[in-house]
Parts: sequence; C-alpha cells; structure tokens
Amino acid sequence: MTDNNQSDSAFVIGWPIKHSRSPLVHGYWLKYLKIQGTYEAVAVVPENIDIFIKLLPKSGFAGGNVTVPHKETVYRLIDHPDEIAQALGAVNTLWLENGEIHGTNTDGYGFCANLDDFAPKWREGKTATILGAGGASRAVIYALGKAGYTNIHIINRTILRAQAIADEFSPLLETSLSAHGWEEATALLADTDLLVNTTSIGMDEDIEFPLDLANLKPNAIVTDIVYTPLLTPLLKLAKRKNFKTVDGLGMLLHQAAPGFEKWFGTRPNITPALRQYILSDLNKKATVK
Ligand code: ATR
Repeated sequence: MTDNNQSDSAFVIGWPIKHSRSPLVHGYWLKYLKIQGTYEAVAVVPENIDIFIKLLPKSGFAGGNVTVPHKETVYRLIDHPDEIAQALGAVNTLWLENGEIHGTNTDGYGFCANLDDFAPKWREGKTATILGAGGASRAVIYALGKAGYTNIHIINRTILRAQAIADEFSPLLETSLSAHGWEEATALLADTDLLVNTTSIGMDEDIEFPLDLANLKPNAIVTDIVYTPLLTPLLKLAKRKNFKTVDGLGMLLHQAAPGFEKWFGTRPNITPALRQYILSDLNKKATVK
C-alpha cells in the first residue's frame, strides 16, 4: 500500500488475459469496501515481460497478480521472492517495497482456505492423491505437505513430471511423496483421504472422468481446482458415489485476498455474495458459448 491509499492501483498480467476473473473479484471488493483504487487486466506478450517487470517500480502500480504463462519467468526477474515462491519457482502476487519488487505465491493458500470453508475435516487427513503434475499441482502438493499431510501420491500421464516434483519437494517437506501412472490410481485410492484433480481433464464438461472411485476410502473428500465448469466430470462422479465434494471457485477467490490486502490495505472477505457474483458471470459466459 502506498501512502496515498486513494490512488492505489494494481494489475493482473498474462497472455492471453481476457478470460481472467481477477478484475471482477478485485473490482467487487474495491466497490464493496468503497476504495478509490483500480485493478486492471494488462495483456503482456512473453517478449515484453522483462521490460514490464523492469519498469514496474516506476509505473505507479502498488503491485499486481501474475498469471499464465508468466509465473515462472517473473519469479526469476523480481528482487525478493518469499519462501513459498522460492519453493515453487513461481509467483502469482507482486508488491513494491522501497522501490523493490517482492513476490509470493498464494495458490496453495487459496486451495487450503477453500477446503477450510467447505470441508474443514480435510485437515484431519494424512494421505492425498493428486492427479496432474503441472504448476497448479506443485502449489497444491507443497501446501498439503506444509499442512501436515504425511503421504502424497502424485499421478500423472507423464510419470517423469510427477517424479520430478517428488524429487524436488522431498527435501523440503516432511512428507513421503511418490510418483505413479494412471494405471496405479485405483489401488492408491484405498488409503486416500483427499483426492485432488489438477489436470485440465475437468475442463471438458461432457466426458466421463477416467477414474474408478469404487476403491476410494469411505469419507474421502474430492476436490477439483478447475472451476469452469463448476461441476467438473470428477466432481459429478464423486457426487454420484456420495463422496463429499468441494468445487474450485473458492480457491480463485481466496488466492486473491492476500494481494488485495497488500495493495489496498484492507483484508477482504470471501462472502457468499461474492461467490454468487462470480458464478453469475461464469454462467453468462457459458450461455454465450
Ligand atoms: P497447470 O500449470 O495449469 O497445472 P500444465 O502444466 O499444462 O498446467 O499441466 C496440465 C496437467 O494436466 C498435466 O499434469 C498434464 O499431464 P502431462 O504432464 O502428462 O501432460 C495433465 N493433462 C492434460 N490433459 C490430460 C489428459 N488428456 N489426460 C491426462 N492428463 C492430462
């Protein structure tokens, strides 16, 4: 937050950026909290990301969010990545202090806070199975390790990517991490307290999710980080089998809150009204499509 709170402004950078819901979320909070700041989407092509970050300290922005495909590149360009950013090698939130750029990654925080809201018993679990091994998967795995999960199975089509995460995070976490192909998934579900989809498989509404949940531990919680559609193929399947499910929208809302507080000085609340506001927009876009 700068001294003149009235004129603070923040951004989200990405390429492409027009699908980002972050301006809606932050715009809602600015209006609700009657803060005179602004939050704008800025399209930055990969060739221009270096210069954008170089000019940032003198740009007048208090900070901003970073999304695909810039999270890793920007991590390497900033002055002070915090411990989580260093572990993940990626940032999604930037702020300025004394003309220097600080950065963190709030995706894991958002993931956990969403589960706290809708399935607080997740904190009693010990074993998680994570489907996927991309950037989002890394944030989720690191957060679960820090939250006390002692056993995490990482399942990925390309096992080498899962193995790379297990190798990299093992020294950082007191968690047993193992890498597997999808053919092993069914067997691994037997001791799973928390099942997480981080793959893009959930984005195609019309498919049957390629996993049999018959073996999943009773009382397991099933969650998906995809929120378009809100009811993903995995969540549909889990609901049919009467498992507790948590959709991915709350992760988007919660990951935004720490940045807003940094730039505008007030910690915003994640309310049912905000959720409804974003849901209406998602539904509108789905109808247009
Ligand atoms: P993000 O950074 O958002 O996590 P990503 O790095 O593109 O995105 O990762 C997408 C994940 O979805 C990967 O785990 C990918 O598996 P691979 O590493 O084998 O590519 C997974 N994924 C995407 N489409 C898939 C499919 N049809 N079947 C299985 N896994 C898929």
